[in-house]
This record gives sequence, structure tokens and C-alpha cells, in this order.
Amino acid sequence: TILVLDFGSQYSHLITRRLREFNIYAEMLPCTQKISELGWKPKGVILSGGPYSVYEEGSPHVDRAIFDLQVPILGICYGLQELAWIDGSHVGRGDKREYGPATLNVVDSNHRLFKGIDRSIVWMSHGDKLHGLPSDYEVIATSENSPYCGIGHTKKDIFGIQFHPEVTHSTQGKLLLKNFAVDICKAQQNWTMENFIETEIQRIRNLVGPTAEVIGAVSGGVDSTVASKLMTEAIGDRFHAILVDNGVLRLNEAENVKKTLVEGLNINLTVVDASDEFLDKLKGVTDPERKRKIIGNTFIHVFEREAAKIKPKDGKDIEFLLQGTLYPDVIESISFKGPSQTIKTHHNVGGLLEDMKLKLIEPLRELFKDEVRHLGELLGISHELVWRHPFPGPGIAIRVLGEVTRAQVEIARKADHIYIEEIKKAGLYNNIAQAFACLLPVKSVGVMGDQRTYEQVIALRAIETTDFMTADWYPFEHDFLKRVASRIVNEVDGVARVTYDITSKPPATVEWE
Ligand code: XMP
Repeated sequence: TILVLDFGSQYSHLITRRLREFNIYAEMLPCTQKISELGWKPKGVILSGGPYSVYEEGSPHVDRAIFDLQVPILGICYGLQELAWIDGSHVGRGDKREYGPATLNVVDSNHRLFKGIDRSIVWMSHGDKLHGLPSDYEVIATSENSPYCGIGHTKKDIFGIQFHPEVTHSTQGKLLLKNFAVDICKAQQNWTMENFIETEIQRIRNLVGPTAEVIGAVSGGVDSTVASKLMTEAIGDRFHAILVDNGVLRLNEAENVKKTLVEGLNINLTVVDASDEFLDKLKGVTDPERKRKIIGNTFIHVFEREAAKIKPKDGKDIEFLLQGTLYPDVIESISFKGPSQTIKTHHNVGGLLEDMKLKLIEPLRELFKDEVRHLGELLGISHELVWRHPFPGPGIAIRVLGEVTRAQVEIARKADHIYIEEIKKAGLYNNIAQAFACLLPVKSVGVMGDQRTYEQVIALRAIETTDFMTADWYPFEHDFLKRVASRIVNEVDGVARVTYDITSKPPATVEWE
């Protein structure tokens, strides 16, 4: 394992990501991590970039014990400056902030760190720079603006680089990280999903023990299905999955999930139809945030009630709650947010833990989304489910604008079903990150045959994005939109008009509410 210490750069998590691409396992922790409390010995340490100035009062600094580990160290940007600062200053403000591409000149093309990398483009993002060389270091690379673009210790495997190898704009950056981890740290390239399944099943069995039982909520999405399948492989029927039908799921979703999970994947699943309860609580509510709160709270209430009905064979109470937390959520909660950071704990169902005195089990907490998908396929979950678009917890309730009634939900989910069906038929589903139909609370005039109609409007949304933080609308062909609009108006009672949403995020959000 490579230890990545995070000084708060927006790129830090990418270091871990890149190493994983070479099957190297890396773990990111805040830069304030005490080495004596680590509990394991890394094969190498990477110090990330960060938004601070090493010489300023209150800036974060690494535990000097990293040097006692006697393993290779690589400092990136702030990490490089930290190495120089520890040696006794040499760091100050640059004449100007350097942001953007630069050409890297490698001093010795045989240097292990730069194997295969000479004169490549690297990405710079720094205001401070080295004004001198720390003692016992030599220059190993330069760039036009940074004479100390790369430095290396003359006796130990300690290196610092001013640029960011983890961003894709650094054309050979990935290779540099691999050179460091594999050739210099001798990290093993054995991080594969095949190995993960084996070790994770064993870990779950050890954690849960021979008799204890586990519950978990499934949603029909990728993460909860993969986590449930993994639990089932590990402990069979001692894992109890619960699907709460909240009345705002997609068309036929509860039935489909049951078929897939029970028949296809042998998961011990109970489907609870609580749609009346949810829709009752949503009566008269139009505010999006209130809808979210009501659905979240009702979910906890229903889930707890159903969980109480499960009686484990050993006569004791259920001990664990499964959660499909992924690594990006973990990173979000542990990444370094500044010297006075408060660590945010991530909880979707936090209330459940406290009320039911459950211990959390999170088998996917080390994985990125694409790793979860790969894992899902290895576990025999269908390609279609594994590549399903995300679906929000509050479901169609935030896609029926205004008041949520059973009739309104029915209109929205039928339109959505037609839209997604056509997207799949056109072979576009996997090019789109998320697509759905919204039902607008306005009426519009139309004609059907000889009849004048006065009915509602459906808005279609489809976006392209990698991280859902920013998104572009998807450029469908006009014929496609024409086909979908015509089907929706003809097949869904209550809809007289269809529009396509052409706003990006920002300024709009993905969802309409
Ligand atoms: P926005 O609308 O914030 O959506 O641009 C970004 C992504 O988040 C999803 N989303 C939610 N997911 N509960 C969820 O589980 C929510 O309340 C929620 N609101 C938005 C949205 O579908 C998109 O993928």
C-alpha cells in the first residue's frame, strides 16, 4: 500500500485513482495523520499538493516520523515545498502564480522516476516556489519557470516535484506515479477486483462472525445491489435485504428489483410496500427540501419497523447495517479541509445506527464507481443493472413538480419509461450519464383528433457529465426527440406537450427540484 497524505489540494484523490489504474493499492489520509497511529507500514509515502504556504503560521505540516519509516517519499507541489521547508526554508512566493502547462526537462533520462518521460508536458498550479536547493538534494528536472521543478535526495529515495502528475493534463504523469510506486517503492500490482472479492468476503466473515446477522436497504441501483450480492456470497441468508417501495420509484421497479435480486442473484430480499404511507405524508407538500426530508424520515421509520420483524436464528438482535458507501464519499469525509477542520462523518441513514444500535458494514468503501461496476459484473450482476443511470433517493417525488399524488407520479413514471426505452432502443443509454422525465405543474392547450385538450407538460432531461458537479445537456437528434414526444403525448393520458431541457449545470442543476 502507498500512503497518500492529503494537504487539501483539489487533485489529491486523483493520486489514489491513478495508482489504482496500475493495480496498486493506495490509501489517502489527512496530512495530519500521526504515523504512530497508522497501524500498518506503507511501501511509500506521497505528499499531495495543497492551497497553503509552507512558511506561513498555521500551515499544515507532516508528521516527521514519515522519515523514520525508511520508505521512499514523493512530494508533489506543496509536498515538494514541505520537503524543502523541513530542510530549512528555501521556499517563498514566486514572481507570479504559475498555472497551466509547462515543458518538463529531465536532467538524467536514466533516472528511475522519469523512465519513459523526458520532455513531456506537465501541469503546474502553484504560487510559491523553491528559491534554493535543500542540502543533500540535487536537481533532477527543470522547467522554464521552475529551476527546481524536480529535486531528489542524493542518498535516499526522497523526491519532490513542482507539477501535478495526477492530473490528465500531465501527459506522462501516470507513468511517473507508476515509476515511483512500482520501481522505487516496490509496491505490488495486485489490486484487482478478483482479489478484492476473495479478501473482502473473508473480511466480512471475520467481522460478522459465525452467527450474527446483517440488514441492508436496497434501492435497485448499482451500489446497493453489488454490496448486497457481496454480503450474500459471504454470509448467505444471514444477510437480509429490504426494499422499501416508497411510491415514488420508477415504473414496475419494485417487481423488477425483486425478480433480479431474488431469482437472479439469490439475495434474501423483503419488499415492503409503504407507498400509501409515503404518499400520505407528501400530501399538500410542494417544497422540494420538505419532500426530501419527509421521504428521508419516513424511510428510516419504515425501515426500522421492518427490520424489527426480522428475527435472527441465534435469537439475538440484528447486529450490523450494510451500507453501500463508496470511496469518493470516504474521501469527501476525510480529505484535509484546513488546519481547523472538523471531520464530517458521512451518513445516509445515520438515524438508523443510533436508533437501532447497529454497527456499520461498508464493503465498498475502498472502491471507486468504475471498480464497483467491474466488481458487479464479476459477481454475475447484469451489464444493464451495472451501468444503470443514478436515481435520486427522493425519486419521482422531486420529478413531479408541485404536489405529489399517485396520479401525478403515474404520469411522470410512464413518460419516463417511454423516454428511457427509446434512449435504449437508439443505443444512446451508455452515452448519457443520466436521463429522466419531469412532470410540470402547468397546463397547456393541445388538440387530439377534433378535441381541444388542456393538459400537463412533460420536460425531458438528459445530461453528459463525469462527476455530476457540472453537466451539459445531451444533443439528441431532432428525429429522436420527435419520436419520444409523439409517443409520450399519444400513450400517456394527461400530457399534452413535451419540451426538452437545454440548460447546463451550472446555472441549472441536474434535477428540476
Ligand atoms: P443536482 O440536481 O444536485 O443533481 O445537480 C446531481 C446528482 O445528484 C442526484 N440528486 C440526488 N440524489 N438524493 C439523492 O440520492 C437527493 O436528494 C438528490 N438530489 C439530486 C441527481 O439525480 C444527480 O445525479
